[in-house]
Amino acid sequence: MNRILEVEHLKKYFDTPRGQLHAVDDVSFSLEEGKTLGVVGESGCGKSTLGRTILHLIEPTSGKIVFDGKDISRVNRTQWKNLRDDMQIIFQDPMSSLNPRMTVSDIIAEPLRLQRKLKKNEILTEVRKLMNTVGIAARLENSYPHELDGGRRQRIGIARALALEPKFIVCDEPVSALDVSIQAQVLNLLQDLQEERKLSYMFITHDLSVVKYISHDIVVMYLGQLVEKAPSEELFAHPMHPYTQALLSAIPVPDVHAKRERVILKGEITSPVEPKPGCRLIARCRYATEKCRAPQTQIEVSPGHFVSCCRVNELNH
Ligand SMILES: Nc1ncnc2c1ncn2[C@@H]1O[C@H](COP(=O)(O)OP(=O)(O)O)[C@@H](O)[C@H]1O
Ligand SMILES: [Mg+2]
Repeated sequence: MNRILEVEHLKKYFDTPRGQLHAVDDVSFSLEEGKTLGVVGESGCGKSTLGRTILHLIEPTSGKIVFDGKDISRVNRTQWKNLRDDMQIIFQDPMSSLNPRMTVSDIIAEPLRLQRKLKKNEILTEVRKLMNTVGIAARLENSYPHELDGGRRQRIGIARALALEPKFIVCDEPVSALDVSIQAQVLNLLQDLQEERKLSYMFITHDLSVVKYISHDIVVMYLGQLVEKAPSEELFAHPMHPYTQALLSAIPVPDVHAKRERVILKGEITSPVEPKPGCRLIARCRYATEKCRAPQTQIEVSPGHFVSCCRVNELNH
């Protein structure tokens, strides 16, 4: 298996009046070609910052990013432009990410105009192919985003991301703003595209039930750090970190006999500004003890299943 993306010790700190905000704090993972990595966690835990840093839409503070065998930890202007051919992003809210004054056809054409030397009619041919690929009727090519429903707008966002035939797409909460019935259609489209084009996805969401369906591997993020990573089935079958267990227990179970204990997290997510060195869940974790104040390391509990909790073995035996 070819690794399309390797991220090692990635950090993104923002300077704020109150001190440094550790939005992404020493994150490491890898992604295999043609697979989907789900990135899950509550709002504000650093998911979007992680995705944008990998794409160099914001510059990392430190750490290593290897994409398709090339070290892209630091890039200049030309390299940055070349990355856009291979790495793209789909946003949560297509309404705010699509220019309201541009037609569907112009929106999808834009990356081609900026990155490719094509004639007008060649671009139009490409745009029509892309519209067909994502299931947008040709008659809508001169419509504006506000004239379309959320599902169609997101399909346009997907068509635009596909225009340059990327290898890797960061999907940043792409279905979170959509009705549940439409969510499944968009997820199916993303999966079909992955199979046809061998695409690799980083799929960001705060909703674990969405990633279960689409991800091969999952990382769970809490306050800028990965607390657990595992193959998707393993994570759902054996969640080990108290935070993952709490997230999972919040998903409704359809079978009444399969009643699970609901694990409630106390309190709000703590501040990511100048965090203390120990486990960041301390204030909210009912299992927290004195030793949780020390920096946490990743413990491999079974092959490929990592948990950043010093109490994982006592709690899950
Ligand atoms: N440009 C920025 N400047 C300062 N802080 C930021 C900036 N972007 C994000 N943050 C902060 O970084 C943290 C992570 O944000 P974000 O990556 O958007 O989280 P998520 O996508 O998981 O909701 C939050 O505390 C947010 O306020
Ligand atoms: Mg976000």
